[in-house]
Amino acid sequence: MTREYQICLKCHSDYGYNDDKLYQVSNTRPQLGSFLGGTFSGTNGLTRYTNQGMEFAAKANDGLTGADQGEPGGNHGSWHPVLFPTGRTLAVRGGLGNTMWLAPWNRVNTDVGNLTMYCSDCHGSATANGVSAPNSGKPWGPHGSSKNFILKGDWDLNTGLNQQDDLCFKCHNYTNYATRQSIKSGFCCDKDNNLHGYHADKITSGIKCARCHAAVPHGWKNKAFLVNLNSVGAEGGQPANTKVGTAYSKFTQAPYYLDAALRIVNWKKSGSWLAADCGWSGTNNDVNWMKSTCK
Ligand code: HEC
Ligand code: HEC
Ligand code: HEC
Ligand code: HEC
Repeated sequence: MTREYQICLKCHSDYGYNDDKLYQVSNTRPQLGSFLGGTFSGTNGLTRYTNQGMEFAAKANDGLTGADQGEPGGNHGSWHPVLFPTGRTLAVRGGLGNTMWLAPWNRVNTDVGNLTMYCSDCHGSATANGVSAPNSGKPWGPHGSSKNFILKGDWDLNTGLNQQDDLCFKCHNYTNYATRQSIKSGFCCDKDNNLHGYHADKITSGIKCARCHAAVPHGWKNKAFLVNLNSVGAEGGQPANTKVGTAYSKFTQAPYYLDAALRIVNWKKSGSWLAADCGWSGTNNDVNWMKSTCK
């Protein structure tokens, strides 16, 4: 063994348990709460574990042939780079500055896109605001945490509201994602360089990451962990390419859809998103669609 994930996946994949291999709603994987000490069944809608081997390795196979690395155009898979890098450098992501990431992920400008990370960068005991390394005196490793799923910070439907110590903001800059800021994001550039901050400002009830991003941030079929209610498939318990709900409805289906709202009409390269790229259809894809959905 040369990598941490190799030991995790001995148990956290179908190497360790019987799996119907259904992507992703399963009737055979271990149930939450069937062991003493685990997270309660029903947390973020989950009643069974997901298969981390499938989540991370599906994209590993694609990525190793190069298919989903970098920005091949149109839609493509996404992943936190545990098995291998994304190839999505700051330049590929639309010319971002590295202040979108916190230390140590932004150590040098060439890090993002070329780095890998550990399962235990996210899974471990709770850490201080804006820090993913263990608190002084605490070991690395997923031994235990005061947070659900042995995470270093909270992660739920309200992440993005006024909760700076939530998991995502151990590595992604809270100020730049959840408050009004114009530091460039790949979610850019209709109206503003940073449509995260723009939405945080416009949605009076506050920005919630899970409205647009998948609820299990391991590996995902669409770019940037984006949900797309215009095209849900087996991962949401639907036939391939199902347009779920009605024009302004949201969608909840564990494990991946946690009151999700985003609908995409056109997939765009990083840094070239327009308001008209989101909506129910090619005639209901504008700011009014957004207002009706998110008010
Ligand atoms: C970028 C952060 C991040 C990384 C890296 C990461 N996880 Fe997770 N993991 C999460 C989050 C967030 C959840 C909670 C998902 C939810 O609320 O449904 C989670 C949930 C889990 C769960 C319990 C729920 C489930 O879906 O089965 C297991 C087991 C797990 N992760 C294992 C792993 C393993 C093994 C690795 C490395 C191969 C890994 N994780 C890497 C963020 C991460
Ligand atoms: C020998 C088997 C084994 C190995 C190896 C292993 N795990 Fe686990 N893991 C388990 C079992 C069993 C549970 C369920 C515990 C429970 O529910 O009480 C679990 C639970 C978890 C959970 C979810 C806990 C919750 O709150 O529901 C996470 C996250 C996790 N493991 C991450 C990891 C990571 C990361 C690694 C590698 C560093 C790893 N595990 C290695 C067996 C293993
Ligand atoms: C431990 C650090 C860490 C945590 C915690 C973390 N991320 Fe990340 N995330 C990264 C890094 C590093 C990258 C960039 C990987 C690269 O391209 O090299 C990344 C990339 C991403 C991407 C782009 C993925 C792609 O394939 O292009 C999204 C979207 C994302 N993170 C969302 C989230 C969300 C939402 C959360 C909270 C649930 C979260 N992250 C938690 C470190 C983290
Ligand atoms: C209104 C929908 C929406 C919401 C809400 C949202 N995002 Fe995003 N996010 C996007 C889109 C679209 C992209 C894809 C940018 C691209 O094409 O590269 C993205 C990309 C990202 C990236 C990749 C790096 C970058 O900036 O381009 C990260 C990290 C990220 N989001 C984190 C978050 C976090 C954390 C939250 C909650 C505070 C959040 N997002 C809420 C739509 C959203």
